[in-house]
Amino acid sequence: MANVVLEIKNLTKKYKNRIAVDNLNFEVFAGEIFGFLGVNGAGKSTTIKMITGLATITYGDVLINGYSIKTDFEDAIMNVGAIIESPDMYSYMTGFENLKYFANLYDNISNKRINEVVKLVGLENRINDKVKHYSMGMKQRLGIAQALLHSPKLLILDEPTNGLDPNGIQEMRIFLKRIAHKENIAVLISSHILSEMEQLCDTIGIIENGKLIEIKTIDQIRKGIEGSQVYAIKVDYPNYAGMLVYKKYNIEVELAGSNIILHCSEDIIPNVISYLTSKNLSIFGVSTIQKSLEEVFVNILKSNSNNKKSTSIN
Ligand SMILES: Nc1ncnc2c1ncn2[C@@H]1O[C@H](COP(=O)(O)OP(=O)(O)O)[C@@H](O)[C@H]1O
Ligand SMILES: [Mg+2]
Repeated sequence: MANVVLEIKNLTKKYKNRIAVDNLNFEVFAGEIFGFLGVNGAGKSTTIKMITGLATITYGDVLINGYSIKTDFEDAIMNVGAIIESPDMYSYMTGFENLKYFANLYDNISNKRINEVVKLVGLENRINDKVKHYSMGMKQRLGIAQALLHSPKLLILDEPTNGLDPNGIQEMRIFLKRIAHKENIAVLISSHILSEMEQLCDTIGIIENGKLIEIKTIDQIRKGIEGSQVYAIKVDYPNYAGMLVYKKYNIEVELAGSNIILHCSEDIIPNVISYLTSKNLSIFGVSTIQKSLEEVFVNILKSNSNNKKSTSIN
């Protein structure tokens, strides 16, 4: 059974009469990397600040490992490691000295644990260099190592890829997966860049204007389970076949060489095939076309804004 580490319940933030975060509900499980995706101003940082106690909660609650950040702050925050703004490190000290310094702020953090987190973020070869000689990516790793020192159950990173080069982003992906899976930590990571989230996260929540408009696992998004699959049917007379299908089923049909391309749900496909066969057409093959996550994402945002339009008319 998956373990819930973070529970967000009706979480709401108002600044004066502006709603920055609007009734969010979601959960993040142990070992899961949850991507919090939205454009600038969507409400990601405000949500993260409420989760970590850096901003007051207007309405709703946050439970971390079962403890309310409102009523059991210390028990809740004990389970959190977070980097909200870029981490402050002493550049004249080595990476190890920095970690030792932060470890001393807690009780009971051994050198063994320090070495463990160094390994988790892959800094073992450079940990005795001074931080002023570190690249941006290495500083980021050191920050994450620091956030992990006290073995939190939840790691929160607000736009951690900002300022990293593609190589740094790829490295971060590798060690964040290692952290989530090896330490069984729940990771909440925010970003405005879909392609980065796609390769890193297990689940993605899309936030727009303070509202969570979609939560899906990457697999669900990839499969486009909400009837947005694309099929290619290879047929002997594609023009004719395309016209027949369009007329009978009223679905979007494109032509591509000897294929007709259909945007429809899976359950229509058997009907289409028997219909075309009944018209004496020959089917040579049916294949699914993988949609890009980008495409699915754009569709989700589009359908959300269409819904909004139609509700505002009513
Ligand atoms: N301290 C604040 N006072 C008033 N409005 C704020 C404050 N902080 C953020 N906001 C507003 O809340 C909304 C969400 O901002 P933010 O959470 O920073 O978004 P994101 O991190 O997704 O870019 C924005 O409209 C922003 O202008
Ligand atoms: Mg932000």
